[in-house]
Amino acid sequence: MNFHTIGRFVGHLGAATLIIAAFTIQGAAAQTALTQTQRIESGFERAKQWCAHCHLVGPGAGAVAQIDVPSFESIAARPHQSLENIENRILKPHPPMPDLQLSRDALRELALYIMSLTR
Ligand code: HEC
Repeated sequence: MNFHTIGRFVGHLGAATLIIAAFTIQGAAAQTALTQTQRIESGFERAKQWCAHCHLVGPGAGAVAQIDVPSFESIAARPHQSLENIENRILKPHPPMPDLQLSRDALRELALYIMSLTR
């Protein structure tokens, strides 16, 4: 079922319903969907594994921050910071950041973890 079919299906119910329907379908498709907290924890695990030898990734990570590498806390604290912006920055890395072949899930979890540091 694509968006077009869904659109015709709930057409008379209006756009708001369509959006809710789309999210519900997305949610149902992800049978093993993790909670937000689990995704943040998973992001932290990934960060310790992949990012901690350059970035200070957070409390208790045993990380050594390198000079000129922003800590995740400072990245999260940037004005107007967003999940999308963080994801784009991870995807289009500046050297010497390695080109990690991250999945969409891994990327989102890392961004969720970084953004969780603002709280
Ligand atoms: C080899 C060292 C290295 C590793 C490993 C690394 N980074 Fe980076 N990262 C950097 C450096 C250096 C910068 C600053 C580059 C710049 O902005 O010019 C940076 C910048 C960033 C930024 C952008 C910060 C900004 O200015 O907005 C994000 C987000 C980021 N890293 C996330 C990650 C994540 C997530 C990982 C792990 C998946 C990771 N990095 C792994 C070195 C690294």
